[in-house]
Amino acid sequence: MKTYRIATIPGDGIGKEVVPAGRQVLAALAKTSSTFNFEFEDFDWGGDYYRIHNVMMPDNGLELLRNKDAILFGSAGDPDIADHITLWGLRLKICQGFDQYANVRPTRILPGIDAPLKRCKTEDLNWVIVRENSEGEYSGVGGRVHQGHPIEAATDLSMMTRVGVERIMRFAFKLAQSRPRKLLTVITKSNAQRHAMVMWDQIAKEISTEFPDVKWDKELVDASTVRMVNRPASLDVIVATNLHADILSDLAAALAGSMGIAPTGNIDPERRYPSMFEPIHGSAFDIMGKGLANPVGTFWSAVMLLEHIGEPEAAARLMKAIEHVTANPALHTRDLGGTATTVQVTEAVCAYLAAHA
Ligand SMILES: NC(=O)c1ccc[n+]([C@@H]2O[C@H](COP(=O)([O-])OP(=O)(O)OC[C@H]3O[C@@H](n4cnc5c(N)ncnc54)[C@H](O)[C@@H]3O)[C@@H](O)[C@H]2O)c1
Repeated sequence: MKTYRIATIPGDGIGKEVVPAGRQVLAALAKTSSTFNFEFEDFDWGGDYYRIHNVMMPDNGLELLRNKDAILFGSAGDPDIADHITLWGLRLKICQGFDQYANVRPTRILPGIDAPLKRCKTEDLNWVIVRENSEGEYSGVGGRVHQGHPIEAATDLSMMTRVGVERIMRFAFKLAQSRPRKLLTVITKSNAQRHAMVMWDQIAKEISTEFPDVKWDKELVDASTVRMVNRPASLDVIVATNLHADILSDLAAALAGSMGIAPTGNIDPERRYPSMFEPIHGSAFDIMGKGLANPVGTFWSAVMLLEHIGEPEAAARLMKAIEHVTANPALHTRDLGGTATTVQVTEAVCAYLAAHA
């Protein structure tokens, strides 16, 4: 019997509702398995922790996570604390501390979901967005001087390195190669950003020679939003910078039906550190504490976690349970136009897993 050590970090807002739900579903899955089990450890880091300790997580936080097989994360974002403090103090500290440089975001229209594009068939939208997760616009390089004076100035430098771009391109090409269509779109903005993005394009071309069987093209980020809406079937794997992919993946989630469904893996492909799985949504201040959060994004993230730790059958079983539940409109949460609660959706997934062991 293999035991996987999983860290759970609910964080803030609806993270406190969806991560316990994710843990419940993983535990239900393990209950039906004779080959693996989970040892969960919960970390109470986030806004509440900050109010007591003045930091979002302790100084030795990374050490406490270091020996875990994976991390299930909720959200960093508190209505009473500035967003740059919560994000940099917790989520980015873990992503950057563990060099989880590939942020992987699958999107497709799950059974039973009423997606908003009237000309888009279910099979037309099946994408994986690969987001560079360690540098670019979110590298943290910059500064602010002369605060409050008329001469105040501030910069956020978008920093790209050859190592950083090469490794994310190679990851994206490899992922595209592993999918049936072997298709990759490289998102760029090298018309306006004439230094780093030109290097980005050039490196994409160089890396493409290692993957002659992958068909690839290049699209400006602004044009890519139009393509996602008008020609969704022309896309498969998409690779983009930290900021571009951040924005495009919210659009992707909305086009697939809801922010509440979309999953992410913050992956260290070299497996030097634990990878971290989380729904792409944030703390959702408007619905937190009401039991209305859609836990499906967290459950799908748990599927990615299972695939990552090497339990593909369990992952497929959980995905089947999720799809069974989304197919039933009576189990849709409010974001999908239904009235079901987080607890009802969670219990339905657990019941399906128990009944289909
Ligand atoms: N990964 C992260 O830690 C992360 C990601 C995004 C935003 N945030 C933080 O979260 C806070 C709120 O950000 P925001 O409002 O821009 O984005 P958000 O994702 O929290 O919410 C956007 C909208 O989507 C809805 N929504 C999101 N997830 C849902 C779910 N599971 N079920 C039902 N509805 C859902 C919300 O109710 C809201 O109307 C901010 O502090 C932000 O910095 C954190």
